[in-house]
Amino acid sequence: MDEEKRFTCFLDCSSRFLSHLVHKARSSFPEQTHCPLLEMNGLEEGVEFLPTMNPKTVEKRGPKRWVVVTVVLIAIFLFSLLVGLLVWHFKYRNVPVQKVYNGHLRILNWNFLDAYEDSSSSQFAMLSKKVKSTVEEIYRSNENIGPYHKETEITAFSEGSVIAYYWSEFMVPKHKAEALDRAMANKQSLMQMLTLKSRNPALKVESVVAFPADPSIVQASRNNSCSFSLHAKEGEITSFTTPGFPNSPYPNNARCQWVLRADADSIISLTFKTFDVEPCSEGNDYIKVYNSLSPVEPHALVTLCGSYPPSYNLTFLSSKNVMLVTLVTNAEGRRPGFRAEFFQLPKIKSCGGTLKGTTGTFTTPFYPAHYPPNLDCTWDIEVPSNKNVKVRFNLFYVLEPGVPIATCTKDYVEVSNTKYCGERPRFVVASNTNRITVQFHSDQSYTDTGFSAEFLSYDSSDPCPGRFTCKTGRCIDKALRCDGWMDCSDASDERSCNCTKEQFRCSNGWCKSLMWVCDGVNDCGDNSDEEQCKCPDKNLKCRNGKCIPEDQKCNGKDDCGDGSDENDCVGAAKAVSCSEYTYKCRSNVCVSKKNPECDGTPDCADNSDEENCDCGIRSYSKQSRIVGGLDSEVGEWPWQVSLHVEGQGHICGASLVSNKWLVSAAHCFQDEMRIRYSDSKLWTAFLGLHDQSQRTHENIQKRKIERIITHPNFNDFTYDYDIAVLELQSPVTFSKVVRPICLPDPTHDFPSGKDLWVTGWGATSEGGSGATILQKAEIRIINQTQCNSLLANQMTPRMMCVGILTGGIDACQGDSGGPLASVETSSRMFLAGVVSWGDGCARRNKPGVYTRVTHLRDWIKQHSGV
Ligand code: ARG
Repeated sequence: MDEEKRFTCFLDCSSRFLSHLVHKARSSFPEQTHCPLLEMNGLEEGVEFLPTMNPKTVEKRGPKRWVVVTVVLIAIFLFSLLVGLLVWHFKYRNVPVQKVYNGHLRILNWNFLDAYEDSSSSQFAMLSKKVKSTVEEIYRSNENIGPYHKETEITAFSEGSVIAYYWSEFMVPKHKAEALDRAMANKQSLMQMLTLKSRNPALKVESVVAFPADPSIVQASRNNSCSFSLHAKEGEITSFTTPGFPNSPYPNNARCQWVLRADADSIISLTFKTFDVEPCSEGNDYIKVYNSLSPVEPHALVTLCGSYPPSYNLTFLSSKNVMLVTLVTNAEGRRPGFRAEFFQLPKIKSCGGTLKGTTGTFTTPFYPAHYPPNLDCTWDIEVPSNKNVKVRFNLFYVLEPGVPIATCTKDYVEVSNTKYCGERPRFVVASNTNRITVQFHSDQSYTDTGFSAEFLSYDSSDPCPGRFTCKTGRCIDKALRCDGWMDCSDASDERSCNCTKEQFRCSNGWCKSLMWVCDGVNDCGDNSDEEQCKCPDKNLKCRNGKCIPEDQKCNGKDDCGDGSDENDCVGAAKAVSCSEYTYKCRSNVCVSKKNPECDGTPDCADNSDEENCDCGIRSYSKQSRIVGGLDSEVGEWPWQVSLHVEGQGHICGASLVSNKWLVSAAHCFQDEMRIRYSDSKLWTAFLGLHDQSQRTHENIQKRKIERIITHPNFNDFTYDYDIAVLELQSPVTFSKVVRPICLPDPTHDFPSGKDLWVTGWGATSEGGSGATILQKAEIRIINQTQCNSLLANQMTPRMMCVGILTGGIDACQGDSGGPLASVETSSRMFLAGVVSWGDGCARRNKPGVYTRVTHLRDWIKQHSGV
C-alpha cells in the first residue's frame, strides 16, 4: 500500500468511527471499524459498502445528530439540577425550625403591684399586654427577628421597678437561624431598636436580654399542671415538695416549676431538706435553681441530681427577692423527689469589714450555706504593729463548674494580688506586714459554700513558736519534719533531711521508713524504694516473692506455685488450675481473674461469681466532703451496727452481712468476772444508727441477738481468730440506712498500700471517751512482715495491720468488732477486716490490728450460711 492510500484509509476509518458513535447512540447495530483488517483482505474498495463512506453524507448528517444528543443531555442535566435545588430549598434549607428564648426586661416608669404576682389577675393581664406589644415592636424593627416571631408570653413580674419575664417563640428557616441567634444575643441592638423606633411611650424600658431556651418550656408553660407560685411570709418558713412526695415518686416526663418570692428588699434562703432524684447522668432527671424568675443559664445557681444525705448542706441564697426552682424528668426512673423550705431575709447591705486584734475568724456570708450570687466583700485585717499577719483558710469551696482554677474567671478570693478558687485543702497566706486584705467576689451564676478562715498574728523572726514553719507559712508539729510524709503542701518539711537509721534514703532525697522498702508500693515517688527488690528485667514478681519470666504470666500454667501469675489476666477470665489465690466458681472451676466477685462481669460459666451481690452499696450516690473532722454522713456506712449491753450502752461494733447475720470480734463476747458477755440475751443490735444520743429515730432497727458463735480457736491472749457471727432474733428490712456489706472470697486480694475505711463509735483519743456521731477514718494496709517487726512479732496469718504510721489516725476502744471496709471495682464495699486490737491508739509506728476476713471466710459461711 503506498503512502497516499494509507492516508485515505486513515481518514475513512476515522470518519466511519464517528458515524459509528452516532449510530450507536441510536441503535445497537454493530459495525466494523478496523481499517488495517480491511486492507489486509485487499478490500480497500470495500469501504464503499458503508453509507457513511460518502464524505458529503458524513458532513451533512453526523454533526447534527451529535448536537441534538448533547443538547438533550444538557437539558436533562439542567432539569434535574433544578429539581434537586428546589427539593433542597423546600425540604432542607427552608424548613422552619422552632426557636425559643427566655428573656427579661426592666420597666422604669411603673410601680409594682402585689396583684402582679398573680398571673390570673386583671392587672397582670393589662401590664402583660403592654409589655407584649413593646417586645413585639422591638422584634418587628429587626429584619432578622421580626419575620419569624410567632408568639411571646409574659410569665411573671417582680419588683425593680418592674421586671417582666417572658419567653418568645420563633419559626425560622434553618439558614436564617444563626442570624436570629445573633440578633437576639445583641443587647445593645435590642435596646437601640427600642429607643429609636419606639412609638409606645407608655413603657420606659431598659436592659432587654434574651437567652436561648429549651423549646419544651413552651409546652410546659401552656400546661400549668406542675407550676406553683409561693410567697414567703414574714418570720415563717414555707415548705414545698415534688408532686406526691413522700408517698409516691414524682411523675415521668415532667416540667415542674416553683416560683419563690419574698418581699421587696429581701432575699431568699432555700434549703432542700431531703433530696433524692435519679443519679446524675446525661438525659436523667435534674433540678435546677435560678437566681431569677426566668430559667436562663447565666442566672443558674445550681443543678442538682442524685441523692444527698440529710446532713448535707443544701442551702442556697438569692441576690434579689425571687428564685425559681425547676424539675425536669425523663421517660423512665422515678424517685421520691425533694422536700424544700424557704424563708426571707433582709438583703445584705454590705459584707466584709475591718478586723482588728491578734486573732479572729471570718467566713463568706451565710457559711456553710452557699453564698449568694452577685456579691463583693472586703475584709481589712490589722494586727498589732509589732507583729505580722497571716490568714488560714480552714475550709475553702469556691468552685464553679467549668472554671479552670488557674484563671478563676468567675467566683474567687483574692489575697495579696493572688486569686484563689476551686476546692482547696487548708492553706495559709502570710503577709510580711501587720495588714492584709481579703477580697471575695461572686458573679451572677453558680455559687458554692465559700470559706471559713482565721487570721493570726505572728512574730516575723519566729512565725511558728515551738513548731516547724512550712515555706507556705503553715505551722506543723516538729516531729513531722523529715518523717517521710508530706505535711506541708509544698513538701518543704521533707526537703534537706538527714535520714535516720530507721529510714531509707530515696534517690530523690526523701527519707522513708524502712518499713516501706520492697512492699510493692512506690512510696518514694521515684520508685527507688522498690527498685532493689525487683525481679530481673522481663521477669514478674509472684505474690510469694518468686520471680518468673514475664511470658509465663497468664499462660494457663501455675508457674509461681501460688497461682498469682494466673489470677490477674486481661480479657475474659479463663479457666485455670486452682490454687490459694485463684477464685473458685461453684462448679469448682477456677478462673484467671483477681477479685471477680460482684464486679459486674460474669466470669464463671455458671455465673456464681455474680450471685448474692446485693451488698456493699451505700445509699447515697453523692459522697460528701469531710467537713471539719471525721463525722460520717447518715447512710454512709449502712452495714455498721452498734452492739449495746443493757445498762452499759455501746460496747462493740459489728457488720451486717445479710438480713439476719452480723460479723463481729470474738473478744467482745468473753465473759468477765461480773458480766457474762457470752450471753446473747445481754445484747441489743442497733442498725441504721448514726448518733448514739438518738436511738429512737424512725430509721433505726433494733434487734435482740438470738445466738453468738465465737470462733473456737479464739485465743484471748494472742487475739488470734478474733471473729464471731451473731444471729439476729428477727431479720431486718433493708433501707437507705440498713444494708449489708459484701464478704470477700477467701482468695480476694487486699494488697499492701491499699486504702481502707474503718468506722465506729469508739474513743476519739487513747483513753478518751466514745464518739456520739459515727466516725470514719481512711487508713492503709501495711505489709505483714514489716508490721510484725513493728508489733513485736505478735502477728498471725489471721491478722492484718492497717493504719497510718505517722500516728494520729486509728481505731480505738469501742470500735472492736466493727468493719474495715474496702472499696472495690464497681464501687461495692467489701469487709476486709474486723477491728481487733492495737498497742494504744493512733500511736506512731503502731498500726491497728484487724482480723483478716479472707482467712476466716469459710468459717463464716459454715456457721451463718452467708
Ligand atoms: N480492742 C479494742 C476494743 O475492744 C479495739 C482496739 C483497736 N485499737 C486500735 N488501736 N486499732 O474496742
